[in-house]
Amino acid sequence: LNVLAVASEAYPLVKTGGLADVVGALPAALEPTGVRVQTLLPGFGAVLHALRDGEIVARFDDLFGGPAAAVAGRAAGLEVIAIDAPHLYARPGGLYADAGGRDWPDNAFRFAALGRVAAEIGRGATALPAPDVAHLHDWQSGFAAAYMAHAERRPRIVATIHNIAFQGSFPADLLPRLGLPPQAMSIEGVEYYGGIGFLKAGIYYADRITTVSPSYASEILEPAGGMGLEGLLRSRKRDVFGILNGIDVEVWDPATDPALEMRYSAKDLSGRRLNKRALSERFRLAASAGPTFGVVSRLSAQKGLDLLADAMPALLEAGANLAVLGAGDVALEDRFRALAETHPGRIGCAFGYDETLAHLIQGGADALVVPSRFEPCGLTQLCALRYGAVPVVARVGGLADTVIDANPVAIAAGVATGVQFSPAGRGALEAAIRRTAALYADQGTWARLQRNGMATDVSWAASAKVYAQLFRDLAP
Ligand code: ADP
Ligand code: GLC
Repeated sequence: LNVLAVASEAYPLVKTGGLADVVGALPAALEPTGVRVQTLLPGFGAVLHALRDGEIVARFDDLFGGPAAAVAGRAAGLEVIAIDAPHLYARPGGLYADAGGRDWPDNAFRFAALGRVAAEIGRGATALPAPDVAHLHDWQSGFAAAYMAHAERRPRIVATIHNIAFQGSFPADLLPRLGLPPQAMSIEGVEYYGGIGFLKAGIYYADRITTVSPSYASEILEPAGGMGLEGLLRSRKRDVFGILNGIDVEVWDPATDPALEMRYSAKDLSGRRLNKRALSERFRLAASAGPTFGVVSRLSAQKGLDLLADAMPALLEAGANLAVLGAGDVALEDRFRALAETHPGRIGCAFGYDETLAHLIQGGADALVVPSRFEPCGLTQLCALRYGAVPVVARVGGLADTVIDANPVAIAAGVATGVQFSPAGRGALEAAIRRTAALYADQGTWARLQRNGMATDVSWAASAKVYAQLFRDLAP
């Protein structure tokens, strides 16, 4: 079975978040099921560089304002097809925004181009075999579904929602330049609240819709979670599935991780002590009686780290330390920087994207806190489980589905893996911090939480089978 994955990021080539991890890991996980995945990506610099020996499989005289080519080859263990279109993708700055954080003004065309090329491959108009299924990830690939639906031949379409907060909404007057027939500008099409919706298009035209956890699949059917798309999703309810993400357990393996000071496994966790020492040095944290909490996150309202900043008095009172690695919202960075200055030795932060440090936090922090207001799946709590860092998470989305709260019953049954709190607010987070400190003080219970976490299957094995089945059920 041939699947064309369409996405804007894939680890390790280009990444801004968990989307890249999923797109990068799923193909290898699907391979044993007999599903072959080729991944179509925009030709960002790093992608084209990795494909420099690739083969041109299609040419386009005018792809939204300039000539372009599709280049296919192997890169970083993936079968990649990249769109070489310098007028759209070759520019300094971010994938979606310039260095100042302003969205690129031509984003509609940059990602319509991704969809256009996907549809050309989908109808068999390139040197590549026509795929059986197109697997579209997030809004950036949404227009692929629209172009495919208007082509004479198309694969079956699965659209996966990684984060419904990013919808790809653009003004209606762009439609004539996007190359869709005028009738596409309707509720039964790409129209979304008077404009054009890329994610809406993906969902509307897809044969099946998935998201990245069962809880999030229910949450997006309600106004608070659906963020405007709940009506459409409800009308497609029977086609909506939640399939939990996994992580790449080779990239994330404490027994072989080169980023750690000391490697370890569930049999012997003593190596964590050295990692904690290295972490403490890196963040200038003093020894403390309580646990060291770690954070590895984008800094955005979604992630709820403002709540963590609010909860600092409770964390300090519990005798705990905090190490924050974050990137994003500048005001939030300033807030944590100020907290670190006021409480040297207790709170440390590092800003920016730092993979090595992310691994050290997972391998050295006692607990990993994820206070998200909403979380489609979340990957850092899965890494934490695998590394014996006890996850402390808001009970939302995929966080609710992957962490078993250390309530008395779960502890007695020997299944608890972390701490959950609800609602995602300051009071409940403070209580969770105090509860975590109390659990930490009981060494036997704490070690069991760590071991249970490390015994949890966070790999792609189970979910890859579910995707494979979904693809097979759909394929002609
Ligand atoms: P999201 O995609 O919403 O940001 P996920 O938890 O799904 O959240 O995925 C985040 C991914 O990005 C994880 O692989 C995590 O380790 C990584 N990550 C997040 N912030 C940073 C950072 N500041 N430095 C390094 N890696 C980070
Ligand atoms: C999004 C979500 C995150 C999820 C990731 C991968 O970025 O915010 O919860 O884990 O996609 O699916």
